[in-house]
Amino acid sequence: MPDRRRASAVPAPPGAPIPRSLDARAVLGRVMLDSEFLRDPYPTYRALREAAPLAWSDEFFGGAWLVSRHADVELVLRDARFSAQRTGGWVMHPADEADTNCRSARSELSGFQRLFARAMIFLDAPDHTRVRQVMSAAFRPADLQRLAPRIERAVAERLAAVDSDSPFDFVSALARPLPAQVIGMLIGLDEAEADAPADVVAWSDELAQFVGAPAPSRLQALSAQTALLAMARHFDGLLTRRRAALVGGAEPRDDVIDRLVKAERDGQIRGSAELLAQCVMLLFAGHETTRHLLANGLRTLLSHPDQWRQLQRDRDLLPGAVRELLRFDSPVQYTGRRVATDLVLHDQTLRRGDLVVALIGAANRDPARHERPDEMDITRRSGSSLAFGQGPHVCIGAALTLMEAQAVFTQVLERWPDLALTPPVAAQWTGNALYRGLNGLSVQCPGPPANA
Ligand code: HEM
Repeated sequence: MPDRRRASAVPAPPGAPIPRSLDARAVLGRVMLDSEFLRDPYPTYRALREAAPLAWSDEFFGGAWLVSRHADVELVLRDARFSAQRTGGWVMHPADEADTNCRSARSELSGFQRLFARAMIFLDAPDHTRVRQVMSAAFRPADLQRLAPRIERAVAERLAAVDSDSPFDFVSALARPLPAQVIGMLIGLDEAEADAPADVVAWSDELAQFVGAPAPSRLQALSAQTALLAMARHFDGLLTRRRAALVGGAEPRDDVIDRLVKAERDGQIRGSAELLAQCVMLLFAGHETTRHLLANGLRTLLSHPDQWRQLQRDRDLLPGAVRELLRFDSPVQYTGRRVATDLVLHDQTLRRGDLVVALIGAANRDPARHERPDEMDITRRSGSSLAFGQGPHVCIGAALTLMEAQAVFTQVLERWPDLALTPPVAAQWTGNALYRGLNGLSVQCPGPPANA
Protein backbone atom coordinates (compact mmCIF):
# COMPACT_ATOMS: atom_id res chain seq x y z
CA MET A 1 0.00 0.00 0.00
CA PRO A 2 1.13 3.57 -0.59
CA ASP A 3 2.54 5.41 2.39
CA ARG A 4 0.31 8.42 2.23
CA ARG A 5 -0.85 8.04 5.85
CA ARG A 6 2.69 7.77 7.11
CA ALA A 7 3.65 10.85 5.13
CA SER A 8 0.82 12.99 6.39
CA ALA A 9 1.15 11.79 9.97
CA VAL A 10 4.90 12.40 10.04
CA PRO A 11 5.75 15.72 8.46
CA ALA A 12 9.46 14.96 8.18
CA PRO A 13 10.53 12.89 5.19
CA PRO A 14 10.94 9.19 5.76
CA GLY A 15 14.53 7.96 6.11
CA ALA A 16 17.47 10.19 6.93
CA PRO A 17 16.97 13.93 6.48
CA ILE A 18 18.38 15.64 3.41
CA PRO A 19 20.74 18.36 4.61
CA ARG A 20 19.52 20.96 2.12
CA SER A 21 15.85 20.04 2.08
CA LEU A 22 14.98 22.65 4.69
CA ASP A 23 15.54 25.34 2.07
CA ALA A 24 13.12 23.58 -0.19
CA ARG A 25 10.50 23.16 2.49
CA ALA A 26 10.77 26.84 3.35
CA VAL A 27 10.11 27.64 -0.29
CA LEU A 28 7.52 24.97 -0.89
CA GLY A 29 5.49 25.15 2.27
CA ARG A 30 4.49 28.68 1.49
CA VAL A 31 4.27 28.97 -2.23
CA MET A 32 3.35 25.68 -3.82
CA LEU A 33 -0.34 26.35 -3.89
CA ASP A 34 -0.48 30.13 -4.02
CA SER A 35 -1.55 32.21 -6.98
CA GLU A 36 1.94 33.60 -7.52
CA PHE A 37 3.32 30.09 -8.02
CA LEU A 38 0.47 29.14 -10.35
CA ARG A 39 1.05 32.31 -12.38
CA ASP A 40 4.81 31.76 -12.63
CA PRO A 41 6.22 28.52 -11.18
CA TYR A 42 9.66 28.96 -12.74
CA PRO A 43 11.45 30.84 -9.90
CA THR A 44 10.35 28.11 -7.47
CA TYR A 45 11.54 25.43 -9.85
CA ARG A 46 14.92 27.14 -10.08
CA ALA A 47 15.21 27.28 -6.28
CA LEU A 48 14.42 23.57 -6.13
CA ARG A 49 16.87 22.58 -8.86
CA GLU A 50 19.65 24.56 -7.22
CA ALA A 51 19.00 24.06 -3.50
CA ALA A 52 17.06 20.82 -3.18
CA PRO A 53 17.00 18.60 -6.26
CA LEU A 54 15.24 15.98 -4.16
CA ALA A 55 12.78 17.65 -1.82
CA TRP A 56 10.00 16.33 0.36
CA SER A 57 6.74 18.23 0.09
CA ASP A 58 3.62 17.73 2.18
CA GLU A 59 1.70 19.76 -0.39
CA PHE A 60 1.46 16.97 -2.93
CA PHE A 61 -0.95 14.14 -2.17
CA GLY A 62 -0.23 14.29 1.54
CA GLY A 63 3.49 13.83 1.02
CA ALA A 64 5.76 13.19 -1.95
CA TRP A 65 9.32 13.55 -3.16
CA LEU A 66 9.82 16.25 -5.78
CA VAL A 67 12.53 15.92 -8.41
CA SER A 68 13.28 18.94 -10.56
CA ARG A 69 16.52 18.38 -12.49
CA HIS A 70 16.38 17.09 -16.05
CA ALA A 71 18.57 14.06 -15.30
CA ASP A 72 16.45 13.03 -12.30
CA VAL A 73 13.10 13.52 -14.03
CA GLU A 74 14.39 11.45 -16.93
CA LEU A 75 15.51 8.72 -14.53
CA VAL A 76 12.13 8.59 -12.79
CA LEU A 77 10.30 8.33 -16.12
CA ARG A 78 12.56 5.67 -17.62
CA ASP A 79 13.50 3.43 -14.72
CA ALA A 80 11.27 0.46 -13.86
CA ARG A 81 12.01 0.98 -10.15
CA PHE A 82 9.45 3.78 -10.41
CA SER A 83 5.99 2.36 -10.99
CA ALA A 84 3.17 4.06 -12.88
CA GLN A 85 0.55 2.43 -10.62
CA ARG A 86 -0.40 5.28 -8.35
CA THR A 87 -4.14 5.76 -8.37
CA GLY A 88 -5.02 3.82 -5.20
CA GLY A 89 -4.01 6.33 -2.53
CA TRP A 90 -4.74 9.24 -4.78
CA VAL A 91 -8.35 8.37 -5.60
CA MET A 92 -9.28 6.60 -2.39
CA HIS A 93 -7.77 9.01 0.15
CA PRO A 94 -9.01 12.54 -0.56
CA ALA A 95 -7.02 15.27 1.21
CA ASP A 96 -9.93 16.05 3.54
CA GLU A 97 -10.75 12.42 4.32
CA ALA A 98 -9.96 12.97 8.01
CA ASP A 99 -13.06 15.20 8.12
CA THR A 100 -15.27 12.57 6.55
CA ASN A 101 -16.25 9.02 7.18
CA CYS A 102 -13.16 7.40 5.74
CA ARG A 103 -14.69 4.01 4.97
CA SER A 104 -17.70 5.50 3.19
CA ALA A 105 -15.44 7.86 1.19
CA ARG A 106 -13.55 4.81 -0.03
CA SER A 107 -16.56 2.77 -0.97
CA GLU A 108 -18.24 5.67 -2.76
CA LEU A 109 -15.10 6.18 -4.86
CA SER A 110 -14.42 2.57 -5.72
CA GLY A 111 -16.11 2.83 -9.15
CA PHE A 112 -13.76 5.66 -10.01
CA GLN A 113 -10.70 3.72 -8.87
CA ARG A 114 -11.72 0.53 -10.72
CA LEU A 115 -11.95 2.33 -14.06
CA PHE A 116 -9.22 4.93 -13.65
CA ALA A 117 -6.56 2.42 -12.60
CA ARG A 118 -6.97 0.45 -15.84
CA ALA A 119 -5.94 3.31 -18.14
CA MET A 120 -2.55 2.53 -19.66
CA ILE A 121 -0.95 5.63 -18.21
CA PHE A 122 -1.30 3.94 -14.79
CA LEU A 123 -0.16 0.44 -15.83
CA ASP A 124 3.24 -1.21 -15.59
CA ALA A 125 4.67 -3.92 -17.84
CA PRO A 126 3.54 -6.47 -18.89
CA ASP A 127 -0.02 -5.04 -18.87
CA HIS A 128 1.19 -1.68 -20.09
CA THR A 129 3.14 -3.22 -22.98
CA ARG A 130 0.11 -5.26 -24.03
CA VAL A 131 -2.32 -2.32 -24.04
CA ARG A 132 0.18 0.12 -25.55
CA GLN A 133 0.75 -2.25 -28.46
CA VAL A 134 -2.95 -2.16 -29.30
CA MET A 135 -3.17 1.61 -28.96
CA SER A 136 0.02 2.30 -30.93
CA ALA A 137 -1.55 0.76 -34.01
CA ALA A 138 -3.94 3.72 -34.17
CA PHE A 139 -1.14 6.29 -34.15
CA ARG A 140 0.88 5.09 -37.13
CA PRO A 141 2.11 7.90 -39.41
CA ALA A 142 -0.12 6.69 -42.27
CA ASP A 143 -3.22 6.88 -40.04
CA LEU A 144 -2.31 10.35 -38.88
CA GLN A 145 -1.67 11.50 -42.44
CA ARG A 146 -5.18 10.39 -43.34
CA LEU A 147 -6.51 12.67 -40.62
CA ALA A 148 -4.46 15.69 -41.75
CA PRO A 149 -6.93 17.12 -44.30
CA ARG A 150 -9.84 16.76 -41.86
CA ILE A 151 -7.87 18.55 -39.15
CA GLU A 152 -6.93 21.35 -41.53
CA ARG A 153 -10.57 21.72 -42.57
CA ALA A 154 -11.72 21.81 -38.96
CA VAL A 155 -9.17 24.54 -38.14
CA ALA A 156 -10.18 26.57 -41.21
CA GLU A 157 -13.89 26.34 -40.33
CA ARG A 158 -13.30 27.43 -36.75
CA LEU A 159 -11.13 30.37 -37.78
CA ALA A 160 -13.60 31.42 -40.48
CA ALA A 161 -16.37 31.50 -37.87
CA VAL A 162 -14.51 34.11 -35.82
CA ASP A 163 -15.70 37.69 -36.01
CA SER A 164 -12.25 39.15 -36.28
CA ASP A 165 -13.36 42.78 -36.56
CA SER A 166 -13.27 42.99 -32.78
CA PRO A 167 -11.20 41.33 -30.05
CA PHE A 168 -12.05 37.65 -29.67
CA ASP A 169 -11.23 34.83 -27.29
CA PHE A 170 -8.86 32.35 -28.94
CA VAL A 171 -9.53 29.73 -26.24
CA SER A 172 -13.28 29.45 -26.81
CA ALA A 173 -12.97 29.98 -30.57
CA LEU A 174 -10.40 27.28 -31.16
CA ALA A 175 -8.03 26.07 -28.44
CA ARG A 176 -10.72 24.50 -26.28
CA PRO A 177 -13.05 22.86 -28.82
CA LEU A 178 -10.57 21.74 -31.50
CA PRO A 179 -8.52 19.08 -29.64
CA ALA A 180 -11.63 17.19 -28.51
CA GLN A 181 -12.94 17.33 -32.06
CA VAL A 182 -9.66 15.93 -33.41
CA ILE A 183 -9.56 13.11 -30.87
CA GLY A 184 -13.14 12.36 -31.79
CA MET A 185 -11.95 11.87 -35.40
CA LEU A 186 -9.11 9.62 -34.26
CA ILE A 187 -11.19 7.51 -31.92
CA GLY A 188 -13.94 7.19 -34.50
CA LEU A 189 -16.87 8.98 -32.94
CA ASP A 190 -19.61 9.51 -35.49
CA GLU A 191 -19.38 12.72 -37.46
CA ALA A 192 -22.15 14.25 -35.39
CA GLU A 193 -20.52 13.23 -32.12
CA ALA A 194 -17.05 14.20 -33.29
CA ASP A 195 -17.88 17.87 -33.21
CA ALA A 196 -16.60 18.12 -29.62
CA PRO A 197 -19.89 17.60 -27.78
CA ALA A 198 -20.14 20.14 -25.01
CA ASP A 199 -20.70 17.40 -22.44
CA VAL A 200 -17.47 15.60 -23.26
CA VAL A 201 -15.44 18.78 -22.91
CA ALA A 202 -17.19 19.63 -19.62
CA TRP A 203 -16.60 16.11 -18.24
CA SER A 204 -12.98 16.33 -19.24
CA ASP A 205 -12.65 19.67 -17.43
CA GLU A 206 -14.14 18.12 -14.31
CA LEU A 207 -11.65 15.27 -14.43
CA ALA A 208 -8.80 17.76 -14.96
CA GLN A 209 -9.78 19.58 -11.77
CA PHE A 210 -9.18 16.37 -9.85
CA VAL A 211 -6.12 15.12 -11.74
CA GLY A 212 -4.51 18.56 -11.57
CA ALA A 213 -5.08 19.18 -7.87
CA PRO A 214 -1.96 18.49 -5.81
CA ALA A 215 -4.24 17.60 -2.87
CA PRO A 216 -7.70 16.76 -4.26
CA SER A 217 -10.65 16.98 -1.89
CA ARG A 218 -13.38 14.36 -1.51
CA LEU A 219 -15.76 16.63 -3.38
CA GLN A 220 -13.31 16.95 -6.28
CA ALA A 221 -12.90 13.17 -6.31
CA LEU A 222 -16.67 12.65 -6.35
CA SER A 223 -17.21 15.17 -9.16
CA ALA A 224 -14.42 13.54 -11.15
CA GLN A 225 -16.03 10.14 -10.60
CA THR A 226 -19.36 11.43 -11.91
CA ALA A 227 -17.62 12.86 -14.98
CA LEU A 228 -15.56 9.73 -15.59
CA LEU A 229 -18.56 7.44 -15.35
CA ALA A 230 -20.58 9.73 -17.64
CA MET A 231 -17.78 9.62 -20.20
CA ALA A 232 -17.63 5.85 -19.87
CA ARG A 233 -21.41 5.58 -20.49
CA HIS A 234 -20.99 7.83 -23.53
CA PHE A 235 -18.44 5.41 -25.00
CA ASP A 236 -20.26 2.30 -23.87
CA GLY A 237 -23.17 2.87 -26.25
CA LEU A 238 -20.79 3.36 -29.13
CA LEU A 239 -18.79 0.25 -28.23
CA THR A 240 -21.94 -1.86 -28.06
CA ARG A 241 -22.96 -0.72 -31.55
CA ARG A 242 -19.50 -1.43 -32.94
CA ARG A 243 -19.29 -4.89 -31.33
CA ALA A 244 -22.65 -5.77 -32.87
CA ALA A 245 -21.55 -4.48 -36.28
CA LEU A 246 -18.36 -6.56 -36.22
CA VAL A 247 -20.23 -9.66 -35.08
CA GLY A 248 -22.70 -9.00 -37.92
CA GLY A 249 -19.79 -9.18 -40.38
CA ALA A 250 -19.23 -5.47 -41.01
CA GLU A 251 -15.80 -4.42 -42.32
CA PRO A 252 -13.66 -3.10 -39.43
CA ARG A 253 -13.02 0.63 -39.62
CA ASP A 254 -9.55 2.12 -39.34
CA ASP A 255 -10.23 3.86 -36.04
CA VAL A 256 -9.34 3.39 -32.39
CA ILE A 257 -12.75 2.02 -31.39
CA ASP A 258 -12.74 -0.80 -33.92
CA ARG A 259 -9.12 -1.67 -33.13
CA LEU A 260 -9.97 -1.85 -29.43
CA VAL A 261 -13.09 -3.92 -30.01
CA LYS A 262 -11.13 -6.31 -32.19
CA ALA A 263 -8.33 -6.49 -29.59
CA GLU A 264 -10.94 -7.27 -26.92
CA ARG A 265 -12.27 -10.11 -29.08
CA ASP A 266 -8.70 -11.43 -29.56
CA GLY A 267 -7.95 -11.25 -25.82
CA GLN A 268 -5.36 -8.47 -26.08
CA ILE A 269 -7.70 -6.14 -24.22
CA ARG A 270 -9.15 -7.78 -21.13
CA GLY A 271 -12.76 -6.88 -20.64
CA SER A 272 -14.94 -3.87 -21.25
CA ALA A 273 -13.63 -1.89 -18.25
CA GLU A 274 -10.09 -1.99 -19.64
CA LEU A 275 -11.43 -0.99 -23.03
CA LEU A 276 -13.52 1.89 -21.69
CA ALA A 277 -10.63 3.16 -19.59
CA GLN A 278 -8.45 3.57 -22.69
CA CYS A 279 -11.15 5.50 -24.58
CA VAL A 280 -11.77 7.88 -21.70
CA MET A 281 -8.07 8.41 -21.01
CA LEU A 282 -7.33 9.09 -24.67
CA LEU A 283 -9.95 11.76 -24.87
CA PHE A 284 -8.92 13.34 -21.60
CA ALA A 285 -5.13 13.10 -22.10
CA GLY A 286 -5.31 14.57 -25.56
CA HIS A 287 -7.80 17.33 -24.92
CA GLU A 288 -6.55 18.85 -21.65
CA THR A 289 -3.01 19.08 -22.96
CA THR A 290 -3.32 20.20 -26.56
CA ARG A 291 -5.71 23.02 -25.76
CA HIS A 292 -3.07 24.52 -23.48
CA LEU A 293 -0.31 24.13 -26.05
CA LEU A 294 -2.41 26.06 -28.57
CA ALA A 295 -3.37 28.91 -26.25
CA ASN A 296 -0.16 29.17 -24.20
CA GLY A 297 1.80 28.82 -27.43
CA LEU A 298 -0.05 31.61 -29.21
CA ARG A 299 0.32 33.86 -26.18
CA THR A 300 4.05 33.16 -26.00
CA LEU A 301 4.55 33.80 -29.71
CA LEU A 302 2.57 37.05 -29.66
CA SER A 303 4.57 38.16 -26.60
CA HIS A 304 7.73 37.76 -28.74
CA PRO A 305 6.78 39.76 -31.86
CA ASP A 306 10.26 39.41 -33.39
CA GLN A 307 9.89 35.62 -33.37
CA TRP A 308 6.31 35.83 -34.66
CA ARG A 309 7.64 37.84 -37.62
CA GLN A 310 10.50 35.38 -38.08
CA LEU A 311 7.92 32.59 -38.39
CA GLN A 312 6.01 34.68 -40.93
CA ARG A 313 9.15 34.86 -43.05
CA ASP A 314 10.24 31.25 -42.63
CA ARG A 315 7.53 28.64 -42.09
CA ASP A 316 10.17 25.89 -42.00
CA LEU A 317 10.88 27.08 -38.47
CA LEU A 318 7.41 26.01 -37.34
CA PRO A 319 8.09 22.39 -36.25
CA GLY A 320 11.03 23.56 -34.09
CA ALA A 321 8.96 26.49 -32.80
CA VAL A 322 6.18 24.16 -31.59
CA ARG A 323 8.73 22.01 -29.75
CA GLU A 324 10.22 25.13 -28.17
CA LEU A 325 6.77 26.31 -27.03
CA LEU A 326 6.26 22.89 -25.41
CA ARG A 327 9.59 23.18 -23.61
CA PHE A 328 9.27 26.81 -22.60
CA ASP A 329 5.84 26.56 -20.98
CA SER A 330 4.95 22.88 -20.75
CA PRO A 331 1.22 22.10 -20.74
CA VAL A 332 1.95 19.10 -18.48
CA GLN A 333 3.98 20.42 -15.56
CA TYR A 334 4.51 17.16 -13.71
CA THR A 335 3.66 13.51 -13.49
CA GLY A 336 3.83 10.96 -10.69
CA ARG A 337 5.34 7.57 -9.96
CA ARG A 338 5.45 5.19 -6.97
CA VAL A 339 8.77 3.82 -5.76
CA ALA A 340 8.55 0.09 -6.54
CA THR A 341 11.59 -0.97 -4.55
CA ASP A 342 13.76 0.84 -1.96
CA LEU A 343 16.44 2.89 -3.69
CA VAL A 344 18.89 5.71 -3.03
CA LEU A 345 18.74 9.05 -4.83
CA HIS A 346 20.89 12.06 -3.89
CA ASP A 347 22.09 10.12 -0.81
CA GLN A 348 18.51 9.75 0.39
CA THR A 349 16.70 6.42 0.73
CA LEU A 350 13.35 6.37 -1.01
CA ARG A 351 11.10 3.67 0.38
CA ARG A 352 8.88 1.31 -1.58
CA GLY A 353 5.48 2.98 -1.90
CA ASP A 354 6.75 6.56 -1.66
CA LEU A 355 5.22 8.88 -4.23
CA VAL A 356 7.59 10.80 -6.52
CA VAL A 357 6.49 13.90 -8.43
CA ALA A 358 8.64 14.42 -11.52
CA LEU A 359 8.53 18.14 -12.28
CA ILE A 360 8.63 18.19 -16.08
CA GLY A 361 8.18 21.98 -16.15
CA ALA A 362 11.29 22.39 -13.98
CA ALA A 363 13.36 19.87 -15.95
CA ASN A 364 12.60 21.72 -19.18
CA ARG A 365 14.22 24.87 -17.76
CA ASP A 366 17.32 23.07 -16.42
CA PRO A 367 20.47 24.93 -17.55
CA ALA A 368 22.38 21.65 -17.36
CA ARG A 369 20.31 20.54 -20.36
CA HIS A 370 19.24 23.74 -22.17
CA GLU A 371 21.36 26.85 -22.68
CA ARG A 372 19.63 30.11 -21.63
CA PRO A 373 16.66 28.01 -20.49
CA ASP A 374 14.46 30.96 -19.51
CA GLU A 375 14.59 32.41 -23.03
CA MET A 376 12.10 31.40 -25.68
CA ASP A 377 13.99 30.79 -28.90
CA ILE A 378 12.25 29.18 -31.85
CA THR A 379 15.61 28.46 -33.50
CA ARG A 380 16.89 26.51 -30.49
CA ARG A 381 18.68 23.24 -31.28
CA SER A 382 19.19 21.72 -27.84
CA GLY A 383 17.31 18.50 -28.50
CA SER A 384 13.92 17.48 -27.33
CA SER A 385 12.52 18.42 -23.95
CA LEU A 386 10.56 16.22 -21.57
CA ALA A 387 7.25 17.88 -22.43
CA PHE A 388 5.91 14.59 -23.83
CA GLY A 389 7.54 12.53 -21.08
CA GLN A 390 10.01 9.77 -21.83
CA GLY A 391 10.47 6.03 -21.46
CA PRO A 392 7.66 3.47 -21.69
CA HIS A 393 4.88 6.02 -21.11
CA VAL A 394 6.16 8.66 -23.54
CA CYS A 395 3.16 10.44 -25.03
CA ILE A 396 1.45 8.31 -27.62
CA GLY A 397 -0.21 11.40 -29.11
CA ALA A 398 2.96 13.44 -29.68
CA ALA A 399 2.95 13.21 -33.49
CA LEU A 400 -0.76 14.03 -33.62
CA THR A 401 -0.20 17.02 -31.35
CA LEU A 402 2.63 18.39 -33.48
CA MET A 403 0.55 17.97 -36.63
CA GLU A 404 -2.46 19.70 -35.08
CA ALA A 405 -0.44 22.58 -33.62
CA GLN A 406 1.32 23.17 -36.93
CA ALA A 407 -2.01 23.23 -38.76
CA VAL A 408 -3.32 25.82 -36.29
CA PHE A 409 -0.29 28.10 -36.22
CA THR A 410 0.17 27.93 -40.01
CA GLN A 411 -3.40 29.03 -40.61
CA VAL A 412 -3.33 31.72 -37.93
CA LEU A 413 -0.07 33.11 -39.36
CA GLU A 414 -1.56 33.16 -42.84
CA ARG A 415 -4.93 34.53 -41.92
CA TRP A 416 -3.92 37.12 -39.35
CA PRO A 417 -0.26 38.10 -39.80
CA ASP A 418 -0.79 41.15 -37.59
CA LEU A 419 -2.56 39.35 -34.77
CA ALA A 420 -1.83 40.88 -31.35
CA LEU A 421 -2.72 40.31 -27.72
CA THR A 422 -5.50 42.59 -26.56
CA PRO A 423 -4.32 44.80 -23.75
CA PRO A 424 -4.21 44.36 -20.85
CA VAL A 425 -2.01 41.37 -21.39
CA ALA A 426 -2.67 39.85 -17.93
CA ALA A 427 -3.15 36.16 -18.57
CA GLN A 428 -6.16 34.31 -17.18
CA TRP A 429 -4.42 31.19 -15.80
CA THR A 430 -6.71 28.31 -14.89
CA GLY A 431 -4.90 27.82 -11.58
CA ASN A 432 -4.34 24.12 -12.28
CA ALA A 433 -0.84 23.14 -11.07
CA LEU A 434 -0.54 20.14 -13.39
CA TYR A 435 -2.16 21.33 -16.61
CA ARG A 436 -0.73 24.79 -17.10
CA GLY A 437 -3.10 26.80 -19.22
CA LEU A 438 -5.38 29.73 -19.81
CA ASN A 439 -9.10 30.16 -19.34
CA GLY A 440 -9.15 32.80 -22.02
CA LEU A 441 -6.83 34.60 -24.44
CA SER A 442 -8.11 37.82 -25.92
CA VAL A 443 -6.55 38.71 -29.27
CA GLN A 444 -7.33 41.09 -32.10
CA CYS A 445 -6.30 41.61 -35.68
CA PRO A 446 -5.97 45.17 -36.86
CA GLY A 447 -7.34 45.28 -40.38
CA PRO A 448 -9.16 42.56 -42.35
CA PRO A 449 -7.91 38.95 -42.44
CA ALA A 450 -5.12 38.41 -45.00
CA ASN A 451 -7.20 36.06 -47.15
CA ALA A 452 -10.56 37.83 -46.79
C1 HEM B 1 0.38 19.29 -25.91
C2 HEM B 1 -0.05 18.06 -26.01
C3 HEM B 1 0.38 16.92 -25.12
C4 HEM B 1 1.27 16.89 -24.08
C5 HEM B 1 2.11 18.04 -23.53
C6 HEM B 1 1.28 15.54 -23.57
C7 HEM B 1 2.07 15.11 -22.52
C8 HEM B 1 2.17 13.80 -22.12
C9 HEM B 1 3.09 13.31 -21.11
C10 HEM B 1 4.07 14.16 -20.33
C11 HEM B 1 2.88 11.97 -20.99
C12 HEM B 1 3.65 11.01 -20.07
C13 HEM B 1 2.95 10.90 -18.73
C14 HEM B 1 3.70 10.00 -17.79
O1 HEM B 1 4.78 9.51 -18.09
O2 HEM B 1 3.17 9.80 -16.68
C15 HEM B 1 1.83 11.61 -21.90
C16 HEM B 1 1.31 10.34 -22.05
C17 HEM B 1 0.18 10.07 -22.79
N1 HEM B 1 -0.45 10.91 -23.67
FE1 HEM B 1 0.05 12.80 -24.07
N2 HEM B 1 0.38 14.80 -24.28
C18 HEM B 1 -0.18 15.59 -25.25
C19 HEM B 1 -1.12 15.22 -26.20
C20 HEM B 1 -1.71 13.98 -26.28
C21 HEM B 1 -2.70 13.59 -27.25
C22 HEM B 1 -3.21 14.46 -28.39
C23 HEM B 1 -3.07 12.32 -26.92
C24 HEM B 1 -4.08 11.43 -27.57
C25 HEM B 1 -4.77 11.64 -28.63
C26 HEM B 1 -2.30 11.92 -25.77
C27 HEM B 1 -2.41 10.71 -25.14
C28 HEM B 1 -1.52 10.24 -24.19
C29 HEM B 1 -1.61 8.91 -23.62
C30 HEM B 1 -2.67 7.86 -23.92
C31 HEM B 1 -0.52 8.80 -22.74
C32 HEM B 1 -0.15 7.59 -21.92
C33 HEM B 1 0.85 6.76 -22.67
C34 HEM B 1 1.29 5.54 -21.92
O3 HEM B 1 0.99 5.40 -20.75
O4 HEM B 1 1.95 4.68 -22.54
N3 HEM B 1 -1.49 12.95 -25.41
N4 HEM B 1 1.42 12.74 -22.59
